[in-house]
Amino acid sequence: MKKIKILNKIFSKPISCLTAYSPSIANILDGKIDLILVGDSLGSTLYGMNNTQGVTMDMMKNHGAAVNKKIKKSLKVLDMPYKTYDNKIDAYKNARILLKHCRPDLLKIEVNEKKLVVLKHLVDKKVNVISHIGVTPQSYKNFNKIKVLGKTNKEKQNLLKLAKESETLGAKAVLLECITTDTAKLITENISIPTIGIGASRYCDGQVLVFDDLINLSTNNKKPRFVKNYFNFNKIASNVVKKYNRDVKLKKFPSTKFTYD
Ligand code: KIV
Repeated sequence: MKKIKILNKIFSKPISCLTAYSPSIANILDGKIDLILVGDSLGSTLYGMNNTQGVTMDMMKNHGAAVNKKIKKSLKVLDMPYKTYDNKIDAYKNARILLKHCRPDLLKIEVNEKKLVVLKHLVDKKVNVISHIGVTPQSYKNFNKIKVLGKTNKEKQNLLKLAKESETLGAKAVLLECITTDTAKLITENISIPTIGIGASRYCDGQVLVFDDLINLSTNNKKPRFVKNYFNFNKIASNVVKKYNRDVKLKKFPSTKFTYD
């Protein structure tokens, strides 16, 4: 089995990553998944926002710190929220706050050509960074406008350039979101740091999904094509709730087993 190294940890390739926003989910994932990401997707997934632009430092600090307590084995990754790394000064100031509160192994930022200077600054300051390229959700107010990238040769070359530059500047991995198979393959073959894909084909060195999508926990019915539902938690939980409601109405719950003499 091929091995892959991120920081000082060795994983068998391809690496696996899922999101966790709460200690209970982190507890389920820890040690079973290589990387656990406290993603700013919590804005839309957990807080019902239309996009991730409303996610704040406080949200990331609170969820990051809560999740951190339950992770002992997997690598911890935390997203920097929208507008907190627009320039070098803000980026490092906010990175330090998140690192202090949540103790992640790596921070993830969404990168375009203009943000490379921020990536470099964080790396120079010894912050471990994952560079998120391709579709970068923080740039979208309306997720319906998201389109797969890398279809044209120009897009493909731009993404390859961005991935190479991220590597040269010291990113520890590149996350590729919603890009064509050809482009993901080209990037993965042309950089030596790991690529982690979401909607970016099996050619990536790793895969990430939002945990809530994996088990159909979220109420959002319109899932992107790249989401695979492994379990219908929504359906099962709905049946359990109906059963509980019936038991309460019929005074079947609580029976003496659940009460105190
Ligand atoms: O915020 C998030 O959960 C992410 C994943 C979609 C990769 O960035």
